[in-house]
Amino acid sequence: MSAALEAVLARMPRREGVYQLSAAEPYEAKETRYWRVRAREFRLYSDEIVRGLPEVPADHPLRGEWEARADSLGRLADHVARFWQDISVLDLGCGNGWMAHQLAAISVRIRVYGLDLNRRELTQAARVFVDKPRVKFLYGDVFTAALPARAFDVVVLASAIQYFPDLPALVRRLLALTAPGGEIHILDSPLYAPRAVPAARARTAAYYKSKGLAFMAEEYHHHTWAALAEFRPEVLYNPAAPLNRLARWWWAEQGRSPFPWLRITVPPDSRPSG
Ligand SMILES: C[S@@+](CC[C@H](N)C(=O)[O-])C[C@H]1O[C@@H](n2cnc3c(N)ncnc32)[C@H](O)[C@@H]1O
Repeated sequence: MSAALEAVLARMPRREGVYQLSAAEPYEAKETRYWRVRAREFRLYSDEIVRGLPEVPADHPLRGEWEARADSLGRLADHVARFWQDISVLDLGCGNGWMAHQLAAISVRIRVYGLDLNRRELTQAARVFVDKPRVKFLYGDVFTAALPARAFDVVVLASAIQYFPDLPALVRRLLALTAPGGEIHILDSPLYAPRAVPAARARTAAYYKSKGLAFMAEEYHHHTWAALAEFRPEVLYNPAAPLNRLARWWWAEQGRSPFPWLRITVPPDSRPSG
Protein backbone atom coordinates (compact mmCIF):
# COMPACT_ATOMS: atom_id res chain seq x y z
CA MET A 1 0.00 0.00 0.00
CA SER A 2 1.13 3.55 -0.62
CA ALA A 3 1.58 4.74 2.96
CA ALA A 4 2.49 8.23 1.73
CA LEU A 5 -0.76 8.50 -0.19
CA GLU A 6 -2.84 7.25 2.73
CA ALA A 7 -1.09 9.78 5.00
CA VAL A 8 -2.02 12.59 2.58
CA LEU A 9 -5.63 11.41 2.40
CA ALA A 10 -5.89 11.18 6.19
CA ARG A 11 -5.28 14.96 6.33
CA MET A 12 -7.75 15.85 3.57
CA PRO A 13 -11.32 16.97 4.19
CA ARG A 14 -14.03 14.63 2.95
CA ARG A 15 -17.37 15.70 1.52
CA GLU A 16 -20.07 13.10 0.93
CA GLY A 17 -17.42 10.41 0.99
CA VAL A 18 -15.10 12.13 -1.51
CA TYR A 19 -11.60 13.30 -0.49
CA GLN A 20 -11.15 16.96 -1.44
CA LEU A 21 -7.68 17.47 -2.90
CA SER A 22 -8.42 20.63 -4.89
CA ALA A 23 -10.57 23.71 -4.33
CA ALA A 24 -13.74 23.48 -6.44
CA GLU A 25 -14.07 27.11 -7.50
CA PRO A 26 -11.62 27.23 -10.45
CA TYR A 27 -13.28 24.18 -12.03
CA GLU A 28 -16.96 24.93 -11.46
CA ALA A 29 -17.80 26.47 -14.85
CA LYS A 30 -16.10 23.67 -16.76
CA GLU A 31 -17.85 21.04 -14.65
CA THR A 32 -21.24 22.61 -15.34
CA ARG A 33 -20.55 22.54 -19.09
CA TYR A 34 -19.38 18.94 -18.90
CA TRP A 35 -22.48 17.97 -16.93
CA ARG A 36 -24.66 19.29 -19.77
CA VAL A 37 -22.72 17.11 -22.19
CA ARG A 38 -23.15 14.00 -20.04
CA ALA A 39 -26.89 14.62 -19.79
CA ARG A 40 -27.36 15.26 -23.50
CA GLU A 41 -25.43 12.08 -24.37
CA PHE A 42 -27.46 9.88 -21.95
CA ARG A 43 -24.34 9.31 -19.85
CA LEU A 44 -25.92 10.10 -16.49
CA TYR A 45 -26.92 6.83 -14.93
CA SER A 46 -28.99 5.75 -11.96
CA ASP A 47 -27.11 4.36 -8.97
CA GLU A 48 -28.40 0.91 -9.87
CA ILE A 49 -26.95 1.09 -13.38
CA VAL A 50 -23.58 2.43 -12.16
CA ARG A 51 -23.28 -0.47 -9.73
CA GLY A 52 -23.68 -2.94 -12.59
CA LEU A 53 -21.52 -1.25 -15.26
CA PRO A 54 -20.25 -2.25 -17.77
CA GLU A 55 -23.39 -4.43 -17.89
CA VAL A 56 -26.42 -2.40 -18.99
CA PRO A 57 -30.00 -3.45 -19.77
CA ALA A 58 -30.55 -4.87 -23.27
CA ASP A 59 -32.57 -1.83 -24.33
CA HIS A 60 -30.10 0.78 -23.06
CA PRO A 61 -29.33 3.43 -25.75
CA LEU A 62 -25.55 3.02 -25.19
CA ARG A 63 -25.58 -0.77 -25.01
CA GLY A 64 -23.13 -1.22 -27.94
CA GLU A 65 -20.67 1.22 -26.40
CA TRP A 66 -20.79 -0.58 -23.05
CA GLU A 67 -20.17 -3.92 -24.72
CA ALA A 68 -17.03 -2.42 -26.23
CA ARG A 69 -16.00 -1.05 -22.82
CA ALA A 70 -16.55 -4.48 -21.26
CA ASP A 71 -14.30 -5.95 -23.95
CA SER A 72 -11.39 -3.64 -23.16
CA LEU A 73 -11.94 -3.86 -19.39
CA GLY A 74 -11.72 -7.65 -19.72
CA ARG A 75 -8.30 -7.44 -21.35
CA LEU A 76 -6.97 -4.96 -18.78
CA ALA A 77 -8.38 -6.96 -15.86
CA ASP A 78 -6.76 -10.17 -17.16
CA HIS A 79 -3.45 -8.35 -17.45
CA VAL A 80 -3.63 -6.90 -13.93
CA ALA A 81 -4.72 -10.22 -12.43
CA ARG A 82 -1.84 -12.01 -14.16
CA PHE A 83 1.03 -9.60 -13.53
CA TRP A 84 0.15 -7.52 -10.49
CA GLN A 85 -0.71 -8.06 -6.87
CA ASP A 86 -0.67 -5.90 -3.78
CA ILE A 87 -0.88 -2.65 -5.70
CA SER A 88 -2.32 0.84 -5.70
CA VAL A 89 -4.08 1.84 -8.89
CA LEU A 90 -4.96 5.36 -10.03
CA ASP A 91 -8.06 5.57 -12.23
CA LEU A 92 -7.64 9.08 -13.60
CA GLY A 93 -10.83 10.69 -14.84
CA CYS A 94 -12.81 7.95 -13.09
CA GLY A 95 -16.20 9.65 -13.60
CA ASN A 96 -18.90 7.62 -11.85
CA GLY A 97 -16.31 5.13 -10.59
CA TRP A 98 -17.47 2.05 -12.48
CA MET A 99 -14.02 1.04 -13.68
CA ALA A 100 -12.37 1.75 -10.32
CA HIS A 101 -14.92 -0.61 -8.81
CA GLN A 102 -14.27 -3.30 -11.42
CA LEU A 103 -10.49 -3.08 -11.02
CA ALA A 104 -10.73 -3.36 -7.24
CA ALA A 105 -12.91 -6.44 -7.70
CA ILE A 106 -10.01 -8.28 -9.38
CA SER A 107 -8.36 -9.12 -6.05
CA VAL A 108 -8.44 -8.21 -2.37
CA ARG A 109 -4.85 -7.03 -2.78
CA ILE A 110 -5.72 -4.23 -5.16
CA ARG A 111 -6.62 -0.75 -3.95
CA VAL A 112 -8.00 1.73 -6.45
CA TYR A 113 -8.08 5.51 -6.20
CA GLY A 114 -10.48 7.23 -8.59
CA LEU A 115 -9.50 10.85 -9.26
CA ASP A 116 -11.67 13.33 -11.11
CA LEU A 117 -12.83 16.93 -11.23
CA ASN A 118 -16.47 15.99 -11.62
CA ARG A 119 -17.96 16.37 -8.14
CA ARG A 120 -21.40 15.10 -8.98
CA GLU A 121 -20.21 11.84 -10.51
CA LEU A 122 -17.62 11.37 -7.76
CA THR A 123 -20.32 11.84 -5.15
CA GLN A 124 -22.41 9.23 -6.91
CA ALA A 125 -19.38 6.91 -7.07
CA ALA A 126 -18.71 7.30 -3.33
CA ARG A 127 -22.38 6.63 -2.58
CA VAL A 128 -22.76 3.62 -4.88
CA PHE A 129 -19.50 1.97 -3.86
CA VAL A 130 -19.59 2.93 -0.18
CA ASP A 131 -19.45 -0.78 0.73
CA LYS A 132 -16.20 -1.28 -1.24
CA PRO A 133 -13.43 -0.33 1.21
CA ARG A 134 -10.61 -0.78 -1.32
CA VAL A 135 -11.94 1.95 -3.62
CA LYS A 136 -11.55 5.61 -2.71
CA PHE A 137 -12.69 8.64 -4.65
CA LEU A 138 -10.72 11.86 -4.79
CA TYR A 139 -11.73 15.26 -6.11
CA GLY A 140 -8.73 16.98 -7.61
CA ASP A 141 -6.81 18.25 -10.59
CA VAL A 142 -4.18 15.65 -11.43
CA PHE A 143 -1.69 18.41 -12.28
CA THR A 144 -1.90 20.27 -9.00
CA ALA A 145 -3.35 17.89 -6.40
CA ALA A 146 -0.90 17.09 -3.59
CA LEU A 147 -0.41 13.48 -4.57
CA PRO A 148 2.89 11.93 -3.43
CA ALA A 149 5.43 11.02 -6.11
CA ARG A 150 5.54 7.34 -7.11
CA ALA A 151 2.31 6.63 -5.22
CA PHE A 152 0.76 4.30 -7.80
CA ASP A 153 1.85 1.03 -9.39
CA VAL A 154 -0.68 1.14 -12.19
CA VAL A 155 -2.35 4.21 -13.70
CA VAL A 156 -5.40 3.83 -15.91
CA LEU A 157 -6.64 6.39 -18.42
CA ALA A 158 -9.92 4.97 -19.69
CA SER A 159 -11.75 7.07 -22.24
CA ALA A 160 -9.98 10.04 -20.70
CA ILE A 161 -7.10 11.38 -22.80
CA GLN A 162 -9.38 13.28 -25.18
CA TYR A 163 -10.36 15.53 -22.26
CA PHE A 164 -6.76 16.66 -21.67
CA PRO A 165 -5.33 19.25 -24.07
CA ASP A 166 -1.65 18.37 -23.69
CA LEU A 167 -1.14 14.60 -23.75
CA PRO A 168 2.68 14.59 -23.32
CA ALA A 169 2.34 16.91 -20.31
CA LEU A 170 -0.24 14.56 -18.82
CA VAL A 171 1.95 11.49 -19.32
CA ARG A 172 4.96 13.28 -17.79
CA ARG A 173 2.88 14.13 -14.73
CA LEU A 174 1.68 10.54 -14.47
CA LEU A 175 5.21 9.20 -14.81
CA ALA A 176 6.10 11.21 -11.70
CA LEU A 177 3.13 9.68 -9.85
CA THR A 178 3.96 6.12 -10.88
CA ALA A 179 6.35 3.86 -8.98
CA PRO A 180 9.49 2.56 -10.72
CA GLY A 181 8.54 -0.49 -12.77
CA GLY A 182 4.90 0.66 -12.81
CA GLU A 183 2.65 1.02 -15.81
CA ILE A 184 0.37 3.60 -17.38
CA HIS A 185 -2.48 2.13 -19.42
CA ILE A 186 -4.39 4.05 -22.08
CA LEU A 187 -7.62 2.52 -23.36
CA ASP A 188 -11.01 3.36 -24.80
CA SER A 189 -9.76 6.47 -26.61
CA PRO A 190 -8.97 7.15 -30.26
CA LEU A 191 -5.48 8.01 -31.47
CA TYR A 192 -4.99 9.48 -34.92
CA ALA A 193 -2.46 9.73 -37.69
CA PRO A 194 -1.67 13.44 -38.18
CA ARG A 195 -3.34 13.48 -41.59
CA ALA A 196 -6.59 12.15 -40.07
CA VAL A 197 -6.87 14.90 -37.44
CA PRO A 198 -8.57 17.66 -39.50
CA ALA A 199 -11.38 15.34 -40.62
CA ALA A 200 -11.80 13.97 -37.07
CA ARG A 201 -12.00 17.53 -35.72
CA ALA A 202 -14.65 18.39 -38.28
CA ARG A 203 -16.68 15.28 -37.36
CA THR A 204 -16.45 16.13 -33.66
CA ALA A 205 -17.51 19.73 -34.25
CA ALA A 206 -20.49 18.60 -36.36
CA TYR A 207 -21.48 16.03 -33.75
CA TYR A 208 -21.43 18.48 -30.84
CA LYS A 209 -23.19 21.14 -32.88
CA SER A 210 -25.96 18.66 -33.69
CA LYS A 211 -26.39 18.07 -29.94
CA GLY A 212 -26.54 21.80 -29.17
CA LEU A 213 -23.14 21.56 -27.42
CA ALA A 214 -20.91 23.41 -29.92
CA PHE A 215 -18.60 24.68 -27.11
CA MET A 216 -17.50 21.10 -26.50
CA ALA A 217 -15.53 20.98 -29.77
CA GLU A 218 -12.93 23.17 -28.02
CA GLU A 219 -12.73 20.85 -25.03
CA TYR A 220 -12.39 17.56 -26.91
CA HIS A 221 -8.84 16.90 -28.12
CA HIS A 222 -7.69 14.70 -30.98
CA HIS A 223 -4.35 13.20 -30.01
CA THR A 224 -1.94 11.54 -32.40
CA TRP A 225 0.18 8.44 -31.97
CA ALA A 226 3.17 10.73 -32.44
CA ALA A 227 2.27 12.64 -29.27
CA LEU A 228 3.11 9.49 -27.31
CA ALA A 229 6.21 8.42 -29.26
CA GLU A 230 8.71 9.83 -26.73
CA PHE A 231 7.25 7.51 -24.06
CA ARG A 232 7.71 4.37 -26.22
CA PRO A 233 4.26 2.92 -25.63
CA GLU A 234 3.64 -0.74 -26.36
CA VAL A 235 0.44 -1.54 -28.19
CA LEU A 236 -1.15 -4.40 -26.24
CA TYR A 237 -4.28 -4.49 -28.38
CA ASN A 238 -4.67 -3.07 -31.84
CA PRO A 239 -8.18 -3.27 -33.31
CA ALA A 240 -6.70 -2.62 -36.77
CA ALA A 241 -4.48 -5.74 -36.68
CA PRO A 242 -5.66 -8.25 -39.33
CA LEU A 243 -6.62 -10.98 -36.84
CA ASN A 244 -8.61 -8.55 -34.70
CA ARG A 245 -10.38 -7.16 -37.74
CA LEU A 246 -11.25 -10.70 -38.76
CA ALA A 247 -12.53 -11.48 -35.25
CA ARG A 248 -14.70 -8.35 -35.29
CA TRP A 249 -16.18 -9.40 -38.61
CA TRP A 250 -16.62 -13.07 -37.71
CA TRP A 251 -18.16 -12.48 -34.28
CA ALA A 252 -19.96 -9.32 -35.36
CA GLU A 253 -22.63 -9.72 -32.70
CA GLN A 254 -20.03 -9.51 -29.90
CA GLY A 255 -19.13 -5.99 -28.76
CA ARG A 256 -15.45 -5.33 -29.34
CA SER A 257 -13.46 -2.23 -28.61
CA PRO A 258 -12.64 -0.11 -31.65
CA PHE A 259 -9.82 1.54 -29.67
CA PRO A 260 -6.21 0.55 -29.06
CA TRP A 261 -4.81 -0.40 -25.65
CA LEU A 262 -1.39 1.01 -24.87
CA ARG A 263 1.04 0.52 -22.03
CA ILE A 264 3.79 2.92 -21.01
CA THR A 265 6.22 1.27 -18.59
CA VAL A 266 8.15 3.29 -16.05
CA PRO A 267 11.79 2.21 -15.95
CA PRO A 268 12.61 0.31 -12.73
CA ASP A 269 15.39 2.74 -11.85
CA SER A 270 13.50 5.96 -12.70
CA ARG A 271 13.63 9.01 -10.46
CA PRO A 272 10.65 11.27 -9.91
CA SER A 273 10.57 14.38 -12.08
CA GLY A 274 8.13 17.26 -11.89
C1 LIG B 1 -14.94 10.94 -20.31
S1 LIG B 1 -14.53 11.12 -18.69
C2 LIG B 1 -13.81 9.58 -18.32
C3 LIG B 1 -14.82 8.53 -18.11
C4 LIG B 1 -14.44 7.36 -17.25
N1 LIG B 1 -13.02 7.08 -17.15
C5 LIG B 1 -15.16 6.13 -17.76
O1 LIG B 1 -14.51 5.13 -17.97
O2 LIG B 1 -16.38 6.17 -17.96
C6 LIG B 1 -13.06 12.13 -18.56
C7 LIG B 1 -12.92 12.66 -17.15
O3 LIG B 1 -11.67 13.31 -16.99
C8 LIG B 1 -11.86 14.28 -15.97
N2 LIG B 1 -10.74 15.25 -16.00
C9 LIG B 1 -10.44 16.14 -16.97
N3 LIG B 1 -9.37 16.88 -16.61
C10 LIG B 1 -8.98 16.44 -15.39
C11 LIG B 1 -7.92 16.82 -14.49
N4 LIG B 1 -7.06 17.81 -14.81
N5 LIG B 1 -7.78 16.16 -13.32
C12 LIG B 1 -8.66 15.16 -13.00
N6 LIG B 1 -9.68 14.76 -13.81
C13 LIG B 1 -9.84 15.40 -14.98
C14 LIG B 1 -13.20 14.90 -16.33
O4 LIG B 1 -13.79 15.55 -15.23
C15 LIG B 1 -14.00 13.68 -16.80
O5 LIG B 1 -14.84 13.16 -15.80
